[in-house]
Amino acid sequence: MIDYTEKIPNNVDLGRDRGLQRALEHWQPAYMGWWYDMGPNESHNYEVYLRTAISVEPDGWAQFDYVKMPEYRWGIFLQPRDEKREVNFGIHKGQPAWQEVPGEYRSTLRRVIVTQGDTEPASVEQQRLLGSSCPSMYDLRNIFQVNVEEGRHLWAMVYLLHRYFGRDGREEAEALLARRSGDADNPRILGAFNEPTPDWLAFYMFTFFTDRDGKFQLCALAESGFDPLSRTCRFMLTEEAHHMFVGETGVTRIIKRTCEVMKEHKIEDPAQVRALGVIDLQTIQRYLNFHYSVTLDLYGSDVSSNAANYFTNGLKGRFRETKLEDDHVLSEAEYPVYEVIGDKIVKKNVPALTALNERLRDDYIEEIADGVARWQRVIDEAGIPFKLTLPHKGFHRAIGNFAGHHISVNGDVLTAEAWEKRKHEWLPSPADEKFVQSLMTGRVVEPGKFANWIAPPLRGINSKPLDFEYVRFN
Ligand SMILES: [Fe+2]
Ligand SMILES: [Fe+2]
Repeated sequence: MIDYTEKIPNNVDLGRDRGLQRALEHWQPAYMGWWYDMGPNESHNYEVYLRTAISVEPDGWAQFDYVKMPEYRWGIFLQPRDEKREVNFGIHKGQPAWQEVPGEYRSTLRRVIVTQGDTEPASVEQQRLLGSSCPSMYDLRNIFQVNVEEGRHLWAMVYLLHRYFGRDGREEAEALLARRSGDADNPRILGAFNEPTPDWLAFYMFTFFTDRDGKFQLCALAESGFDPLSRTCRFMLTEEAHHMFVGETGVTRIIKRTCEVMKEHKIEDPAQVRALGVIDLQTIQRYLNFHYSVTLDLYGSDVSSNAANYFTNGLKGRFRETKLEDDHVLSEAEYPVYEVIGDKIVKKNVPALTALNERLRDDYIEEIADGVARWQRVIDEAGIPFKLTLPHKGFHRAIGNFAGHHISVNGDVLTAEAWEKRKHEWLPSPADEKFVQSLMTGRVVEPGKFANWIAPPLRGINSKPLDFEYVRFN
């Protein structure tokens, strides 16, 4: 169980280590300062129907109640330790899992933890203005739930930095509160976390695509030989599932509403669809293309010696590492990657160890494709002849083998001029964004009411009805 009588709720027996407790209690007001500045706009007095973990067990989400977000009990929750756990891959395979940081991997592990930790407050910053244009009270409650949990994910990484990395760790923990998404001088570390999330379609796409990158990164880190990292990631994954749910169902509901209107009025022309105040499927496809491509970049270079080292040294595994049936060392194996040569994309086998970023990206793409197929079903069931597609892996990429090339959604290598001419067939144009935002100029917060451009969800949160008062504004 989690101890909520402590100033910092935790299940790591924090009170036993006075120095660590003091350091974290010192960081806590800085975190609160960040939340007041960069957390959801104008929300500090709202009472929000939120879930709070009462234990790290699968049924530990029993606690739902009204909470003012600044009073949310952010804390430190690790999955219980498995005394028999081993390092499961790489050159240390078979050793007992590490309870302390091996000296030779200290700076690498710190970098991995900081990079993960940096994404958590970044997404809160990206989403901070969306409350004022929410399509319903239900959705407003959901974005706040996502925001407080991203805040908790930051706590998870900051605990590791404080507990295991001494002074360097404490400095990194402060820097995590100092960077700002999109800031010219002190931006967040990764590209996708500096892109704005200006509207709710972008928010749902972000939580579907980019939070799922979070899931895959956490899954790879949950395999780590450094046991405390593994244990914290396992608990973070239980929180991440809700974020992806919000994204997937959000897009589903937008598609559903658009299809309803198209059918009712027997129209297909996007201009006519827009005139009825819903988002045309072509614009949804362009948003999908954008969020998919910028998220693919988060996996890093297709061929990477860093990725090989992380794996060989037992720091970061593959997706579902222990379920894979091979030697978990990969000294002989190969893996295909793609390269642009002239005006062709060619496949090339490289040592599997160096292609681990690409492999994780491919695992991710497989799961994404399933989700997009579920969206497609909504369109098919409405009998509308429109196909949502995933663009080619090389489309609109800024990192790895496709960076610097112009690849169409179909995988054609284009000249810079041809790309410029056609890019807004595939990516949202300023006019698309302006249209989407024109639907979201105010918030819809009457209980049970939903904006015209989105269908209601199938059910409420925690078995509450759709017209439940999920947020009290005071
Ligand atoms: Fe997160
Ligand atoms: Fe998340």
